Amino acid sequence: MRKLAILTSGGDTPGMNAAIYSAVKTARAKDITIIGVEKGYKGLIEGRLRELSGDDVNGIECRGGTFLKTARCPEMLTPEGQEKAVRVLKAYEVEGLIVIGGDGSMKGAWDLSKRGVAVIGLPGTIDNDLNYTDFTIGFDTAVNNVINEIAKIRDTMESHERVGIVEVMGNNDGDIAMFSGVASGSEYIIVPEREWNIDELCMSLQSRKIKGQNTSIVVVSEGAGKGKEIAGYIKEHTDIDAKAIVLGYTQRGGSPSAFDRILAQNMGATAVRLLDGGKINRVIGIRDFKITDYSFDEAMQMEKRFDGAMYDLHSVLHAN
Ligand code: F6P
Repeated sequence: MRKLAILTSGGDTPGMNAAIYSAVKTARAKDITIIGVEKGYKGLIEGRLRELSGDDVNGIECRGGTFLKTARCPEMLTPEGQEKAVRVLKAYEVEGLIVIGGDGSMKGAWDLSKRGVAVIGLPGTIDNDLNYTDFTIGFDTAVNNVINEIAKIRDTMESHERVGIVEVMGNNDGDIAMFSGVASGSEYIIVPEREWNIDELCMSLQSRKIKGQNTSIVVVSEGAGKGKEIAGYIKEHTDIDAKAIVLGYTQRGGSPSAFDRILAQNMGATAVRLLDGGKINRVIGIRDFKITDYSFDEAMQMEKRFDGAMYDLHSVLHAN
């Protein structure tokens, strides 16, 4: 293999830079030219490509965001958009493409593979919502960002004897809420994977208050409810002062955790090795702490595993 390209697509995640860094260094060690595509599939279709040197990427592995920039690209959902992308890759004589992104980006990668492009997908999303991997690049950092914010929120909630409703990202997946809720010792976790009832929440908060437990943190996944609505309902139906805090993009930024840096570097290097070895059209994941790879067909048939045991443990730990 003589020439590869790499892009980041969809929402940025801490660790994307570490994956780019590792792919560039690994490719150059093998005398493979590596091209960076700016702004994901949008930039690919528009022909925003440039060769990357080792110097271009030195130091980026410790930084959040993506130095290649990213975008969401509805045009990649169309056959015309995909054909344009293929034409650009051919014009630049690119023999293999590495795509780092979430589910939409992997779908785009799969579509390109069906049009003859040799592709490897890396799971880059804070949501941890890809079926074929235990962890996605960026998830661990997002969880750490959330627990740091919750510690601050708890200080002020306790001082005022309030209840904090902390809304976190995750799209339709509850992993950010569940992992950060458990790790921060939050009293309640609301996720889309489990049914919940707002009147039961109110009753539970009320009975805690009767016992003198005036402060609680409720972590709610954006896919399960809206923080503001929940806080409003609690205030209307109880004598509890509830405050909604939407953490938003503070979760997605910042320097990647050690786990994400290492995961991303391993995956970036694996992507280059797979392409160079002719093992193409695959997605890379991590299962039981081992780096794995699957064909797109296999990966898309897998089901997302929600860790019900962790959720149940949290319920036991906070039952009294
Ligand atoms: O997919 C990552 C994510 O951060 C989701 O958790 C969130 O719902 C969404 O992106 C936000 O999208 P945008 O960056 O377009 O606001």
